[in-house]
Amino acid sequence: MGRVAPVERPELRWPGKATDVVEAVAHVPELVVEQPGVSDNVLIIAENGAALRALGRSSRADLLAESLVKLAYLDPPYNTGNRFDHYDDAMHSAHWLDDLRERLLSLKKIMHTDGSIWLHLDDSEQHHGRCLMDEVFGREAFVATVIWQRRTSRDNRTAFSISHDYIHVYAPAGPKRWKQVRNGLADNGAFANPDNDPRGPWRSVPLSAQAGHATASQFYTITTPRGLALEPPPGRCWTYTASRFQELVEEGRVYWPKGGLGRPRLKRFEGEVTGLAPSTLWLADEVGDNAAAKKELLRSVGGDRPFDTPKPESLMERIIHVATDPGDLVLDPYLGSGTTALVAARMSRRWVGVEEQEFTVRNIAVPRLEAGGAGGFALVVAGS
Ligand SMILES: C[S@@+](CC[C@H](N)C(=O)[O-])C[C@H]1O[C@@H](n2cnc3c(N)ncnc32)[C@H](O)[C@@H]1O
Repeated sequence: MGRVAPVERPELRWPGKATDVVEAVAHVPELVVEQPGVSDNVLIIAENGAALRALGRSSRADLLAESLVKLAYLDPPYNTGNRFDHYDDAMHSAHWLDDLRERLLSLKKIMHTDGSIWLHLDDSEQHHGRCLMDEVFGREAFVATVIWQRRTSRDNRTAFSISHDYIHVYAPAGPKRWKQVRNGLADNGAFANPDNDPRGPWRSVPLSAQAGHATASQFYTITTPRGLALEPPPGRCWTYTASRFQELVEEGRVYWPKGGLGRPRLKRFEGEVTGLAPSTLWLADEVGDNAAAKKELLRSVGGDRPFDTPKPESLMERIIHVATDPGDLVLDPYLGSGTTALVAARMSRRWVGVEEQEFTVRNIAVPRLEAGGAGGFALVVAGS
């Protein structure tokens, strides 16, 4: 049986896959400022393969100056086979893969060391997309795949009613390091101070945990202030060892429910809460769905040819919040109707957007950004 040439680690292959970086021989256009901006933000009307090559070159010079991309959000055509009013979503899979691979390779060069890349796809190509991300950024850069509920109504035309998309999140620094720099989600849990604790409002959390990884020192008997002897609940252990638990009692950090008859809980003070780890399931009632996104766009630009596939502003808000801080640079190489740029500007992030369809830029994204108070950006076109 014939064998294909060996590779260093598992990777996706397809007919005609480039064995090297096309970039080395590809043309790099000049980026020409058509309309200068009063902010650091830039909207580029160009094919993004060329634009990313040009940005890579200018990252040491003018356009990106010294700032590298903290968040790259990629929402490419999913390759569903549809032909939308504003762009084509039907490519041969091999061609789609070649294009995306080349863009990811260019992107890698302009990413900040603490940056992250969020690749948004549906079932048409998401499995291939993840393999490509592994190939370009390394499996060790994988952070999570977010499932976003894009639709809440049922679609009876298909065998399954598809309710979700996938967003593959990669951080070149690796998930451990990235966890230290990413932002958690707001913790809206209620805090109160029923005992006038001078440390301020608090709420209580359990002092037991699942026993799966417990050590022997987490199983002991706790005696409550009313003299009740308590073992950990079935299948659980105490969160802390007996000596650490005793310290917490002495520090006044243990709350005894039911007047000292219930299981002890830890007092967690409002000032100590650092934000919640985002879960991988993002529901429409938290971050919007496709229908909400279309309504938002229509409200801001109206028109008789609305853009087919905008993303909800709240979805972008969450991504930008988790991945960046004010002043950071956000890049969207598939800008479409401009959602990422609009939200980034509102959140005081700098942004670069690339979109190849001139109609989309001039008739949808630009008016939308101006109507949303995000004007003042430079409009750039790819020259020869
Ligand atoms: C799924 S839409 C992005 C929607 C966007 N996230 C929004 O909220 O409006 C994909 C966009 O990428 C653009 N596009 C596709 N291929 C491109 C390329 N090679 N270079 C630049 N833009 C491209 C399409 O014209 C389309 O507007």
